[in-house]
Amino acid sequence: MTDTNAHLGLGDKKVDLPVRKGTIGPDVLDIGALYKNTGTFTYDPGFTSTASCESKITFIDGDEGVLLHRGYPIEQLAEHGDFLETCYLLLYGELPTAAQKKDFDHRVTHHTMVHEQMSRFFTGFRRDAHPMAVMVGTVGALSAFYHDSTDITDPHQRMVASLRMIAKMPTIAAMAYKYHIGQPFVYPQNNLDYASNFLRMCFAVPCEEYKVNPVLARAMDRIFILHADHEQNASTSTVRLAGSSGANPFACIAAGIACLWGPAHGGANEAALNMLQEIGTPDRIPEFIARAKDKNDPFRLMGFGHRVYKNYDPRAKIMQKTTHEVLAELGHSDDPLLQVAMELEKIALTDEYFIEKKLYPNIDFYSGITLKAMGFPTTMFTVLFALARTVGWIAQWAEMIEDPQQRIGRPRQLYTGAPKRDYLPLSKR
Ligand code: SDX
Repeated sequence: MTDTNAHLGLGDKKVDLPVRKGTIGPDVLDIGALYKNTGTFTYDPGFTSTASCESKITFIDGDEGVLLHRGYPIEQLAEHGDFLETCYLLLYGELPTAAQKKDFDHRVTHHTMVHEQMSRFFTGFRRDAHPMAVMVGTVGALSAFYHDSTDITDPHQRMVASLRMIAKMPTIAAMAYKYHIGQPFVYPQNNLDYASNFLRMCFAVPCEEYKVNPVLARAMDRIFILHADHEQNASTSTVRLAGSSGANPFACIAAGIACLWGPAHGGANEAALNMLQEIGTPDRIPEFIARAKDKNDPFRLMGFGHRVYKNYDPRAKIMQKTTHEVLAELGHSDDPLLQVAMELEKIALTDEYFIEKKLYPNIDFYSGITLKAMGFPTTMFTVLFALARTVGWIAQWAEMIEDPQQRIGRPRQLYTGAPKRDYLPLSKR
């Protein structure tokens, strides 16, 4: 919707920039014709004030701590729904009817196996390879196994690739974990729900019956819901940019996994737990808070702060509740890591520096404690984030491909390098 124009004076040039309104959230200035009309670029390297696309999938109000998926608050989806229902909502825009949900669950369940040749693919990695390195390589390789769903111009192939990604990520993630710890791969079981299937593929061993703990399965499913999608974050923007060149969906998701791995993004859950372990006891918290505030110290309080949330991350609140449920179920309510985390949160939220910079715990602050208690090593934390975020990446990728305005993403730059100069022969240097 274009409603009004903003007027920009640039030297002797005057340009009108169309102002476009969304359904909710900030208006945008459409600067598409700015360079053509003025010969000037805009400059916003961290995209702090830049909308890269139009989307109908997820909305965040960072000041109010609101997260909506297709208009539904994350609190309600996490409370009342399950992960596959959230997947359906993100992909198709509406909550499924009972029949649609049954059909979608059935279709995803019957795509959970991977090509048998893939199990040999893992043997090329060292056992001590970081599981995220294995995920980047293995997911990128899916396009070598599933040629019949790589034509992005074919809606049917896009749908099959989407289902395959959502269905196979738990299997591949579990295989990466089993390979890492030297245990045999466990095949998916079609009679289990998504989260239970994943827990069984990770923790079952051939020598005994594995019983899924329903409290842990529910917690796992809720953790997947909390990580499913989050507007145009770094990894989603990576997937969109990779997809804008027409690359196949498996390659685009592999690019998203690579970006998510960074400690400033999805790697923060692993870094946050390592930080809590390094702090060790509440009496050492002031020392780390001081380091976090010290401009000369690169240390950041991992699991704190967010580009968009300048209020509490609504996912962190639900995550904290899930942490308490899981620790209580496992009899670890007195987990020293949880004590340190809660004390750290209490101190940080009353500290002038964190208040002034609006730094609150984000989704990664509590997730690590929960995942560790469930039996996952820290190296698997970001793998679980990637598993859950796959549906968000796929939904955003599909929205971009289906957008008639879609073009290859090709940003420009502010060039501050050397002006044109002639080559100097070696004898003259
Ligand atoms: C995720 O984008 C998303 O939606 C991401 C995500 C998703 O679901 O996809 O929500 C998932 O990535 C959550 C964020 C996980 N990362 C961490 O927990 C790592 C620690 N946090 C920081 O690295 C940082 O807060 C970021 C990366 C999250 C946000 O960085 P910004 O928006 O670029 O903010 P900034 O680095 O410019 O910080 C603003 C100020 C700075 O101080 P000044 O230069 O203004 O003096 O706040 C300070 C920073 O030094 N600051 C911190 C801090 N985070 C920011 N100081 C101490 N500890 C921190 N954690």
